[in-house]
Parts: sequence; structure tokens; C-alpha cells
Amino acid sequence: MNTWYFISVFLHVILAAFWIGGMLSLPLVILPGIKQHPDRIAILYKTGIAFRFYGWVALLALLATGLLNMYLRGLPFTWVFFTQNSYGILVSWKFLLFTGILAVSGTHDFFFGRKALEEMQHTDNSRLRQLARWSGRINLLLALAMAFLGVVLSRGGALP
Ligand code: HEM
Repeated sequence: MNTWYFISVFLHVILAAFWIGGMLSLPLVILPGIKQHPDRIAILYKTGIAFRFYGWVALLALLATGLLNMYLRGLPFTWVFFTQNSYGILVSWKFLLFTGILAVSGTHDFFFGRKALEEMQHTDNSRLRQLARWSGRINLLLALAMAFLGVVLSRGGALP
């Protein structure tokens, strides 16, 4: 294993930490911090849009460094590997979950979340807010599952 492999895994882990940390910072830090603020909705909107940009950059970079990890480890990109090898099967699960993350993040970031914040400026539409909240929670769970699979992969890649 060469230095580039270690750099790629390092970046992958930092990106995962950034992405998961960013998702947690909204409900755990920002929301309680601005609860009584008169411009709460405007602040939420601005921070949401800013994180949306960096979040998508991190997601794409996670895909790139994930593939690079495999390449620099000398693993094959073949159908047999992805369907019959225990390490390859776990990577296939990561691809599947990643597709789920793209779908949930897309609807959350560009539809429920954005629309909920837009509507909160005029009315209190709790249905959209609930949808935004739940899609955010599902995304967090998917992200944690990805990190768990990653830890298993890094240590050999076989689950019982
Ligand atoms: C389709 C996209 C992805 C692919 C192909 C991928 C692939 C991989 C691979 C091959 C490894 C093992 C690296 C090694 O030790 O050689 C790994 C580790 C890891 N991945 Fe991913 N990954 C992807 C997305 C993600 C995402 C979205 C997250 C974050 C939520 C994530 C979090 C992690 C973590 C935390 C590790 C563990 C590193 C360690 O314990 O040393 N991955 N990933």
C-alpha cells in the first residue's frame, strides 16, 4: 500500500466526518442556538443553503475517494468481485446505500427542506416541516450505515 492510498483513505474519513458532523450541527447546535432569534427562519435558510453546497461537494468527493480507495488497494472492478467476494458485496451495499442517499438528499435539499423553509416565512405548514425533518433523519441513518460498512471494509471486509 502506498502513500496515495493512505491519503485517499484519510480524505475519505475526513469527508465523512464533515458530512455527518454538518448534518448533526443543524439540530444539535444551530436550531437550539437561534430558537428565540427574531430572524430564525432567514438564518436557517442561509445556513441550510450554505451547507447544501458543501454537503453535495463532500458527497461527490466521498464517491471519488471511495472508488480511489479500492483502486489504490489493487481491488478489481469486476461483476464477479462485486457479487461473489465478501469485500466486494459490502462495497455493493455501499453503492446501493449511496444511491439511496442521493435520492433522499436530493428530495430533502431541493424539495421538502427548501419548500418548508420558504413556507415557514409565511405560514406554519407542519406537513412539509415533518417531511423535511424525517428525510433529514433517514439521511443521517444512511450516512451512519455507510460509515459502519466503511469501518468493516477497512478491517478486512467480512460480516458474519
Ligand atoms: C459510493 C460511495 C463510496 C464508496 C465506493 C466507498 C468505499 C469505501 C472503501 C473501499 C472503504 C475502505 C477503505 C480501505 O480501508 O481501504 C471505505 C471506508 C470508509 N468509508 Fe466509504 N465509500 C463510499 C461512501 C462513503 C460515505 C458516503 C461515507 C460516510 C458517511 C463513507 C464512510 C467511510 C468510512 C468512515 C470508512 C472507514 C475508514 C476507516 O475505518 O479507516 N463512505 N469506503
